[in-house]
Amino acid sequence: MQTNEKKKVLSCIQPSGMLTLGNYLGALINWKNMQNEFDCTYAVADLHAITVRQEPAKLRQQIYSTCALLLALGIDPANNTLFVQSHVAAHSQLAWLLSCYTQFGELSRMTQFKEKSLKHADNINAGLFSYPVLMAADILLYQPDLVPVGADQKQHLEIARDIAVRFNGIYGNVFTVPEPYIAKTGARVMSLQDPSKKMSKSDENINSWVAMLDSKDDIIRKFKRAVTDSEAKVCIGENKLGINNLIGIYSAITGKSAQDITNEFEGKGYGDFKITVGEAVAEELRPIQEKYNTFIADKKQLEDIYKEGAVKAEYTARRTLSKVMKKVGFVL
Ligand code: TRP
Repeated sequence: MQTNEKKKVLSCIQPSGMLTLGNYLGALINWKNMQNEFDCTYAVADLHAITVRQEPAKLRQQIYSTCALLLALGIDPANNTLFVQSHVAAHSQLAWLLSCYTQFGELSRMTQFKEKSLKHADNINAGLFSYPVLMAADILLYQPDLVPVGADQKQHLEIARDIAVRFNGIYGNVFTVPEPYIAKTGARVMSLQDPSKKMSKSDENINSWVAMLDSKDDIIRKFKRAVTDSEAKVCIGENKLGINNLIGIYSAITGKSAQDITNEFEGKGYGDFKITVGEAVAEELRPIQEKYNTFIADKKQLEDIYKEGAVKAEYTARRTLSKVMKKVGFVL
């Protein structure tokens, strides 16, 4: 590889439900930052979303909404590839091929499958089981060097790497084996109501999570109610999960260190701190929300953008798929 060639990055996000502050600080903020340094391909993983039952009208809305939000974040579709997974048929096609190189046993060991089977006991479908194979296809089609993933997706990236290594072992070098990318910025955001758990939009208590599209009042109200400890000292501590979380959020947004934050709130109570964090979050999200409103109001423009993205993605995806098919022995 030439040294002046940018490394390739691939990531996808599901369009299920509202994106949260956790998605933003845990992943999306890095999607935006990475686009200057890397050659990035980003997709809305709509095929993954139907492993749990979706209402058609709602799913449609969420796909549009996720595209609009990615654009609002500042992801530039001219210099990156931004598309909807189901628009590039090669994802489903490669997923089938790879499923014949993936063992029942290794899929059975996936923690997310075990968790989701418990949660959706009435709908343990084959798609839920083979979900990591589709994810492997998403990744391997684009030969990325790096895949940014959160802790909960690490096991899935690991299996994608295993599949790639196995396939390469049989047929020669077909796939780039991607590395996980752990970003320097951002934060792992915990629930505001139970800071031992990750912030999640599926949490029934709406005060536990902040949506990227929440109003300023809602955001501040949720932060005011955030669960903390009784020490009343803004600093990192072992038994201060709530405060640690708020410091992490404030730090990710302002770039201030935990020590700076402790100094800033010396002698002040948690009330002040919570309001400051809430205001900083609202202020961070405000310009994104404004841009989101313009993108979502113009469906035609949105469609033009994701269709163009699919054409670009298709080109790379087709090349990999043809190579794989030839190697396996299909006639083209
Ligand atoms: N499974 C990921 C999630 O739920 C989304 C995803 C689908 C993904 N395909 C991917 C992430 C490929 C990274 C790479 O978060």
